[in-house]
Amino acid sequence: MARHRLLLAALLLLLSSAVLSSSSASAEREEEEDPLIEQVVGGDDDELMSELEAEAHFASFERRFGKAYGDAGERAYRMSVFSANLRRARRHQRLDPTAEHGVTKFSDLTPAEFRDRFLGLRGGGRPNLAGSRDAPILPTDGLPADFDWREHGAVGPVKDQGSCGSCWSFSTSGALEGAHFLATGKLEVLSEQQMVDCDHECDPSESRACDSGCNGGLMTTAFSYLMKSGGLQTEKDYPYVGRENTCKFDKSKIVAQVKNFSVVSVNEDQIAANLVKHGPLAIGINAAFMQTYIGGVSCPFICGKHLDHGVLLVGYGSAGYTPIRFKDMPYWIIKNSWGENWGEHGYYKICRGPRAHNKCGVDSMVSTVTAIHTKKE
Ligand SMILES: *[C@@H]1O[C@H](CO)[C@@H](O)[C@H](O)[C@H]1NC(C)=O
Repeated sequence: MARHRLLLAALLLLLSSAVLSSSSASAEREEEEDPLIEQVVGGDDDELMSELEAEAHFASFERRFGKAYGDAGERAYRMSVFSANLRRARRHQRLDPTAEHGVTKFSDLTPAEFRDRFLGLRGGGRPNLAGSRDAPILPTDGLPADFDWREHGAVGPVKDQGSCGSCWSFSTSGALEGAHFLATGKLEVLSEQQMVDCDHECDPSESRACDSGCNGGLMTTAFSYLMKSGGLQTEKDYPYVGRENTCKFDKSKIVAQVKNFSVVSVNEDQIAANLVKHGPLAIGINAAFMQTYIGGVSCPFICGKHLDHGVLLVGYGSAGYTPIRFKDMPYWIIKNSWGENWGEHGYYKICRGPRAHNKCGVDSMVSTVTAIHTKKE
């Protein structure tokens, strides 16, 4: 009798894990991960979680991030996506051992949903300004070993773009907030919504990628818009709502004006020199590892260089968190726009230096802006 019960229990367990694996396989199929990553890391050799374990994990995720789903079907689907993301986070952990990967507030989104809603760099992030915007080459000797604009008052609070592909506007406002601080000594928190609603500037290249609110944009085209329109209002005067509305720009309320902007070459010394001289820089990055990122210096063995996310470079360090085999790994400090409850209080660190080889394309699209000097009040 007892034996029969045991057999029945074993059968049930087998059945339920089969159900779990088939439903999570469907979520996994939507995952368009780099095929190279799959080759290196291999398939899922992880033991399958029991349904009970998965349920407990998911319930704690729901509580922690205040998630509420429409109905039981939606919740079951989100749980299967969550399970697939747990396996993905484990793969990311193996590929990126100097960072910590795990459950984040984005763990119930497929990579495709995540890309559509929380990134937003257009045209592969490749502006074609035909060299006309190349930044002059700066001297690089005497640069500090470590530098962080947050310690010098040039960086405002971490913001949250919400479910809107407007990263490009946050990167742009962050760079102008810094440049304006350097020019005036005053930190003004600037408006992204003005750009989301009013900036429809197009890239001059054949791609004709245009700034399009929550559907993406480019920082360089946003700088062009700001030069033409006159500048940015404050966040307070033109608050962020996270969807595109009709333009309510009021020229009389401009507080920060762009004097000029330029594109920095793909050279880490030049990037550092421009950062120190001109303030935080608008950069593009490949965000594939950011959905599961919790902290540490990200330095994945393999990372795409296709740029899909606009962020703000605010500083650099010379020796990051280092397990023995990555001694003294230098890194960039990046301000993101996914709120303070993501990453390291809203920030991301990624490795730099000759061994990093432009990791995740972080050095590929860097632009700097200068603000108009106005008299201090
Ligand atoms: C603006 O920046 C570009 C690129 O760095 C430079 O060639 C140009 O001379 C600058 N214009 C002004 C008015 O400073």
